[in-house]
Amino acid sequence: MKRRLMVVYGTRPESIKMAPVIQALHQSAHFEPMVTVTAQHRDLLDQVHALFGIRPAYDLDILSEGQTLSDITVRALNGLAPVLRHERPDAVLVQGDTTTAFAGALAAFYHRIPVIHLEAGLRTDDRYAPFPEEINRRLATQLATLHLAPTFHARENLVRDGVAAASVVVTGNTVIDALHWAVEQKAQYVDPQLADLDDTTHRVLLVTAHRRESWGDGMRAIGGALADLARAEPNLVIVFPLHPNPVVRDAILPQVAHVGSVRLTEPLAYGEFARLMDRSHLILTDSGGIQEEGPGLGKPVLVMRDTTERPEAVLAGTSRLVGTERENIVKQVLRLLHDREVYASMAKAINPYGDGRAAHRAVQAIGHWMGLCQRPADFTAGSAPEAAGVEDRLAAQRRLLDPTEGIMVHE
Ligand code: UD1
Ligand code: UDP
Repeated sequence: MKRRLMVVYGTRPESIKMAPVIQALHQSAHFEPMVTVTAQHRDLLDQVHALFGIRPAYDLDILSEGQTLSDITVRALNGLAPVLRHERPDAVLVQGDTTTAFAGALAAFYHRIPVIHLEAGLRTDDRYAPFPEEINRRLATQLATLHLAPTFHARENLVRDGVAAASVVVTGNTVIDALHWAVEQKAQYVDPQLADLDDTTHRVLLVTAHRRESWGDGMRAIGGALADLARAEPNLVIVFPLHPNPVVRDAILPQVAHVGSVRLTEPLAYGEFARLMDRSHLILTDSGGIQEEGPGLGKPVLVMRDTTERPEAVLAGTSRLVGTERENIVKQVLRLLHDREVYASMAKAINPYGDGRAAHRAVQAIGHWMGLCQRPADFTAGSAPEAAGVEDRLAAQRRLLDPTEGIMVHE
């Protein structure tokens, strides 16, 4: 008999990272997947569902404008309870570190349903950065019984936190599966502001920003930095798909709305966004997922945060932390635009986050955990334990994340 697995998510990045898993579950002889969305995001989620052809069985439709963390948690818990009571799945799968992921895991636990955590083990070791994600993912770890870690480093974080190594499988990150697929689609640009990008040789700076810990001063500084860059580099095309959150828009728009070379768009459908990432010269972002995608496409990523739970690309030299200080963002972008050597050293295509087969590994790992099949071999790539000097690697990664050692680039 097929095992009934309920896949629970609510935001854009979760849906992109769950889509390949849902597809692999449907292809597997062992599972009957069932999708429940909290719809913590609405338009952003619907865009992804349209692209991947996902039709949720349950849609809790909880989004409200200006929703607080408590709103999301309470509405998700209250919405999930009757669904779980009615369906009684064999397990619940949650992804990442959103408030939906935490609430989904908690709701399943309240119903004594086992929790499987995809993209487990990311850590900054700073409870307020990113906020609230660092604590959401730690709580998800406590609630889960099977941990699907994207990299060896994430696995080590879990083991360090007391998770039994036997309950961790390194799968790679499913975002790389989704990215490969999306790039192959060769989606057309729908937004007319992007129509000329294939016909111009001007360099494209792709920007996204949304993190809660940057609301206010940080976001205003990001907007100010873009205005400065547009003045300093008139031929640079700056494309900024804005997050729908009015808090983000209110901080960014006054700084850049009047600047012609900054093209502000609505959130782009994933296919169109993947094409834009591929077309870009470099990426400036605070996004988690884009830190994973940029290296796969050989695009330098400047991360507008003070710390990251994704040190693999920083260590490999393709991403850098630049913080949210206006002058430093400008300086670091200009440096990459003008110093060919620095640019070339960062523009390397590397795949520390996945090889495009993470979803199949995840499904096999779940099957093994349920006693249905063999355990998959761990994803290795650049984070392989057998890669030269793993202890040195891990020590370097820990140093990287240690604020007293300071890895933020200021020079
Ligand atoms: C959420 C996640 C964050 C993740 C991000 C991905 C939490 C607490 N935050 O942050 O971890 O990195 O999603 O994008 O789980 N809105 C819309 N339509 C949408 C989506 C959002 O109008 O489709 C607006 C609403 O006004 C909403 C606001 O954006 O209140 C913020 O959404 P919310 O999910 O609370 O936070 P994000 O910043 O999107
Ligand atoms: N993305 C997208 N359209 C956009 C901006 C981002 O499809 O206009 C994709 C991006 O490629 C990545 C994901 O959304 O896969 C990241 O979402 P976000 O930055 O909102 O969340 P995070 O990863 O920081 O949690």
